[in-house]
Amino acid sequence: MVFISDLSRLYSDRAGKMRKSVIRELLKVTQDPEIISFAGGLPNPKSFPIQELEKVFDYVMENHGETALQYGTTQGLKELRQSIAERACKDGIDCDEENIIIVSGSQQALDTVGKVFLNPGDTALVGLPTYLGGINAFRSYESNLEGIPLDQNGMRVDVLEEKIKGLLKDDITPKFIYTVPTFQNPAGVIMPEKRRKQLIDIANQYDLIIVEDDPYGKLRYDTSAIKPIKAFDDEGRVIYMSTFSKILSPGFRLAWTIASPELTRKMIICKQALDLCTNTFTQFLAWEFMRRGSLDLHIMKICELYKPKRDMMIDAMKKYFPEGYTCYKPKGGMFAWVTLPEGIDTETMFLDSIKEKVAYVHGKAFHVDGGGDRSMRLNFSYSTDEQIQEGMKRLATVIKNKLQKEKVVL
Ligand SMILES: Cc1ncc(COP(=O)(O)O)c(C=O)c1O
Repeated sequence: MVFISDLSRLYSDRAGKMRKSVIRELLKVTQDPEIISFAGGLPNPKSFPIQELEKVFDYVMENHGETALQYGTTQGLKELRQSIAERACKDGIDCDEENIIIVSGSQQALDTVGKVFLNPGDTALVGLPTYLGGINAFRSYESNLEGIPLDQNGMRVDVLEEKIKGLLKDDITPKFIYTVPTFQNPAGVIMPEKRRKQLIDIANQYDLIIVEDDPYGKLRYDTSAIKPIKAFDDEGRVIYMSTFSKILSPGFRLAWTIASPELTRKMIICKQALDLCTNTFTQFLAWEFMRRGSLDLHIMKICELYKPKRDMMIDAMKKYFPEGYTCYKPKGGMFAWVTLPEGIDTETMFLDSIKEKVAYVHGKAFHVDGGGDRSMRLNFSYSTDEQIQEGMKRLATVIKNKLQKEKVVL
C-alpha cells in the first residue's frame, strides 16, 4: 500500500498544534516490567472491588440488561445523577440531578469546558503547577494559559487578583480559573476554606467562571473533610467536576459535572457531538454499587491502602534522599511533590532514572510558564510496598549521582 507522504498540509491548524501528552509518552517507557514507576496517576489495582462488581454485573444484566446495553441520554442515567446529587448535597453543594451531567471521565469534562469557553487566543488561568491533562485539554483550543503560583494552601489568590487586574487593563478577560483545590495534582496541597471563599469573592467581583476539578477530595488520610468551592457558590459560576476513576475504577470512564442549569445545557450540547452519551453499562454498574451502600465502604478501604503507602514513600525519602530536597507531605490524594536543590534539572535526570529503572514525572510538565525544572511528581498509590522501598532507593542513587555530576554544593 502507498501512503500519502505528507498529511500535515491537510491538518487543521488546531490538530497541527496539538502536542503529545508527556505523561502518555512516559507511561509507554514505563511499560518495561523492570521499571518501578512512580510516574502514572494510577489507582492501585488491588483496590478494585472485583468480586463485588461481579455480583453487581450479574444483577444489572438480570434486572436492567435491556436498558443498560442501550444508548442513554447525553446527560446520563437519571438514577445515577440522583445518587450523585444526594452525595453532593451532603458535601454542601446545593444541587439536584438536573445540575449534573455524567461524562466519560473528568478529562472529557475538561475538554468540554474548553469547547464551551475558549476561542483561539483566549486566556484561562491555571495553577503553577497544575494537572497536565487540563493544560492539554485547554491548549487544544489554542488558548493562552496564564499560571498562578501555589503555596502550601493552594492557588495564591493575592497573585491571582493582581493577574486578573493586569489582564483586564490590557482588555483581556480571562475565560475561567481552573483549580484542583483538594490534594492537588501534582502538588498534593489543600486549599483551606478561607481561601476558597476568597476565590469565590474574586470570581464574583470580576465576573469570572471557576472550574473546580476534584478527583481526590475523598482520598483523605489525616485531615478533616473540607467543603468544595462549589458549596460557596451563590451565583452559579462554579463548574464542579469529580470522577469515579480514583474511588472505583478508571476503566469505567465515568465522571460528573455539577453546574448551573444554563451551563449544564451548554455542556450537554457540546458533549452530544463528542460521544452521544457516556457508557450506559458502567453507569448502571456505578449506580447499583452506590445503591447497595458500597461506595463509602470502598473509599474507606482505599484510604486504608494508600495512607501507609504515602507514609512509606515519605519515610523512604527521609531515609535515602540526599539533603537539600523539600517535599510537602500530602494529607490525601495520590502524589508527593518533591523539589530538588538548585542546579538539578529533573527533565534531563529522567534519562538517568530510566537507566536505574525507576520513573517519575518531571515538574516542567505541570508548568505552563516553563518553570518547575527542579521538581518532580511521585505517585504512591500504584506501587507495592516493596517497589516503593526499592524505587526510592534507586531514585536516591539517581539524585546523588546527578548532584555530583552537576557539582551542586549543598
Ligand atoms: C486533576 C485531575 N483531573 C482530571 C483527571 C482525569 O480523570 P478521569 O479519569 O476522570 O478522566 C485526573 C486524572 O488523573 C486528574 O488528576
